[in-house]
Amino acid sequence: MTDWQALREYHEMVADRPILTLFDDDRAADFSVSADGLLLDYSKTNIDAKARELLIGLLRDLPVKRDAMFSGAKINETEGRAVLHTLLRNMDSDVTVDGADATVALRETHAAMQAFARDVRGGAFKGQGGAITDVVNIGIGGSDLGPAMATIALAPYADGPRCHFVSNVDGAHIHDVLSGLNPETALVIVASKTFTTIETMTNAETAKAWMAKTVKDPAAQFAAVSTAADKTAAFGIDASRVFGFEDWVGGRYSMWGPIGLSLMLAIGPEDFDQFLAGAAAMDAHFRHAAPEDNLPVMLALVGIWHNQICGYATRAVLPYEQRLARLPAYLQQLEMESNGKRVAMDGTDLAIDSGPVVWGEPGTNGQHAFYQLIHQGTRVIPCEFLVGKEGHEPDLAHQHRLLVANCLAQSEALLRGRSLAQATAIMQKKGLEGHELERQARHRVFPGNRPSTTLCYPKLTPFVLGQIVALYEHRVFVEGVVLGINSYDQWGVELGKELALALAPMLDGAPADGKDGSTRALIGYLA
Ligand code: F6P
Repeated sequence: MTDWQALREYHEMVADRPILTLFDDDRAADFSVSADGLLLDYSKTNIDAKARELLIGLLRDLPVKRDAMFSGAKINETEGRAVLHTLLRNMDSDVTVDGADATVALRETHAAMQAFARDVRGGAFKGQGGAITDVVNIGIGGSDLGPAMATIALAPYADGPRCHFVSNVDGAHIHDVLSGLNPETALVIVASKTFTTIETMTNAETAKAWMAKTVKDPAAQFAAVSTAADKTAAFGIDASRVFGFEDWVGGRYSMWGPIGLSLMLAIGPEDFDQFLAGAAAMDAHFRHAAPEDNLPVMLALVGIWHNQICGYATRAVLPYEQRLARLPAYLQQLEMESNGKRVAMDGTDLAIDSGPVVWGEPGTNGQHAFYQLIHQGTRVIPCEFLVGKEGHEPDLAHQHRLLVANCLAQSEALLRGRSLAQATAIMQKKGLEGHELERQARHRVFPGNRPSTTLCYPKLTPFVLGQIVALYEHRVFVEGVVLGINSYDQWGVELGKELALALAPMLDGAPADGKDGSTRALIGYLA
């Protein structure tokens, strides 16, 4: 019997039991993992010791693959690249890629970023109208989601220029961002690993034209982050303000290096280094902790249990931290672009489901929107709660307590539910009887037995955010290894890009030859 079969058979045996019955005095401790102040509680799932043992049995390839990743082997086999975003937060390692020390250039670039950030923040680097007040990061996908998410998350540490993010090719996005800014005190960062992405390059040209209306030398107020030095030069950006990185840093794993420049400008080099230190701490934990004590490993295995074994197709990420509002969007790219694949590394069809749909919103807002479905809908949606022990607003500690209470209440409600007998008793007290009592009570039943995990952290500092993001990165890696896929390419985004390039002229009147009837009709309406 394969490991997968054994897990499926075991799941069938235990699928209907109430999770609540698994609790004894030790379960909460036995089914939680901690690392450097973080605590992941997965006791409110149907995983017991046997299920965990079977899940850990899926990790046969993990130690070798993990060592291969950290040592710079080309584990991104479909692109022939190493996967070394971890080096960006551990620049003292002695990793070589193609025989060359991979860290020398990283250290130089990091120092150059720090010097530039200090100049901008301290006013030594100026715009035509004086010190830089606003930074506009133009990028998309991995060149936007990470720094945009982290800049909001770390708002209490932001003491530099205001940072804005433009990603969408929809002109409304750049229009609305630029219309509030003074071009004479703005710095534009064009962030694109390839420097060919159509959305980013189009927005960069728009920003340049906007600046050129008032500023004599607009390129002097531009910086670039890219692996393509020739293209940044062709765009007119001086090499002193170009921050490069290697192709072994994947777009969605890149905010630890120059793609994080906007974040560094916002919070300063020291706090940025704390962010890196948090991620490095998670790297060390991931490399050395035993599977059952390993936070990314257990988070991945819980995900596999819910998605591939129980068949729950989506996962809700529910941060009880308003400043993590963009975490679900960030994780959508990280998890779905990495593990949303139907072909295994060896080119064969994947025999199991690929990674789940990831979605979510901060609590408590989500409670007043979609939690209805989570509690009483027909589908089971595993929930991942995140919550901090402490907020950044000591004067509003009472609000933080209410936030935490809501988070705990939701996972308890999902676990416990409310039986028909309980609902009936409640409605009886309200004076209902007979058929109406039964009807009304049934609407108030919560099936319960719905799984969730809770990730607790002390406070959302730069260090803790680094830990959390690295935790999710490694979780994606573990899931990819277990599923046997390449988590580091993204061929699935290519076809749409190619078709868009061909479609654009058709919206200007070029013949829509070869298009299906629907697309032709839509062009007819939209052109
Ligand atoms: O289209 C997908 C993608 O390649 C992402 O993987 C990447 O993060 C994004 O586009 C942006 O790419 P670039 O940084 O090269 O502009």
